[in-house]
Amino acid sequence: MEHFSIYNNSPIAKIDLSVFNILGNSLSIKREDMLHPFVSGNKFRKLKYNIQAAQEQGQKTLLTFGGAFSNHIAAVAAAGKEFGFETIGVIRGEELEVKISENATLSFAKSCGMRLYFISREAYRDKDNPEFIINLKNQFGDFYLLPEGGSNALAVKGCEEILSNETASFNYICVPVGTGGTMAGLVKASNKEQQILGFSALKGTFQAAEIAKYTPKTNFEITDDYCFGGYGKIDIDLIRFINEFREKTKISLDPVYTGKMIYGIMDLLKKGHFKENSRIFAVHTGGLQGIAGMNQKLKNKNLPIIE
Ligand SMILES: Cc1ncc(COP(=O)(O)O)c(C=O)c1O
Repeated sequence: MEHFSIYNNSPIAKIDLSVFNILGNSLSIKREDMLHPFVSGNKFRKLKYNIQAAQEQGQKTLLTFGGAFSNHIAAVAAAGKEFGFETIGVIRGEELEVKISENATLSFAKSCGMRLYFISREAYRDKDNPEFIINLKNQFGDFYLLPEGGSNALAVKGCEEILSNETASFNYICVPVGTGGTMAGLVKASNKEQQILGFSALKGTFQAAEIAKYTPKTNFEITDDYCFGGYGKIDIDLIRFINEFREKTKISLDPVYTGKMIYGIMDLLKKGHFKENSRIFAVHTGGLQGIAGMNQKLKNKNLPIIE
């Protein structure tokens, strides 16, 4: 794991909130997006111990699942290339097979050597069924299986390492939520005075049950108030915010996860949600590779793009 340990820490950037006309609290962002250009943010954390386990088991191939714009697919493809694994991506949507060149994420994964295997949305729903996995093994040979989104116990262990002594004095720890695996690691590694606040990237806060599988701690809350209607959905307000935030802070945000979280934090700050003089800490979980795909969709709809 020599390569990964080089990247083990990321800088913390203090945001000047006065340029957003916000006073009385502080916001710092942990730039996990800077860990690695493609295995960035929580992807690096989630893969670290899984790659180690695959190496220890002598596995030669990593297999995982994802949709057309999946950060996880891009990260597994890049990590496979870097660490000498064959990679197989089982992709939701048969129709995408003829559109690889139009899709930045899938083209990138392919350029890293990932074998892309497209299946129907219906078949994809079956991906956790043991029989489905056996069929994949019959087809492709043995592999180390990474679940969709990459969340498992080893991933949660890796995500615990996002927090350290450096972060112990923050009052709130904010994170975008998909499956809840990253947040589970943060909850586990937090101290009891800290409140972990999750911003769901999709409708619902069902991820709380996922977190409870990994830790008995309850110092957390998940909101879907800033999911903008659902997974991958955005509007002009969010695009403008992401562009404004980048202009003022030089920090890029992705439209699916981190953009929604920072939008939510700013809104809650303006509404006085946090106690005065609170020290707020947000995890930039990466995902910037998804901007190209989103911009393609925005252009097709004649909407402004993410700069
Ligand atoms: C950039 C980014 N942030 C946050 C998340 C959410 O992570 P989790 O699924 O662990 O909740 C993801 C999803 O995989 C992601 O790609």
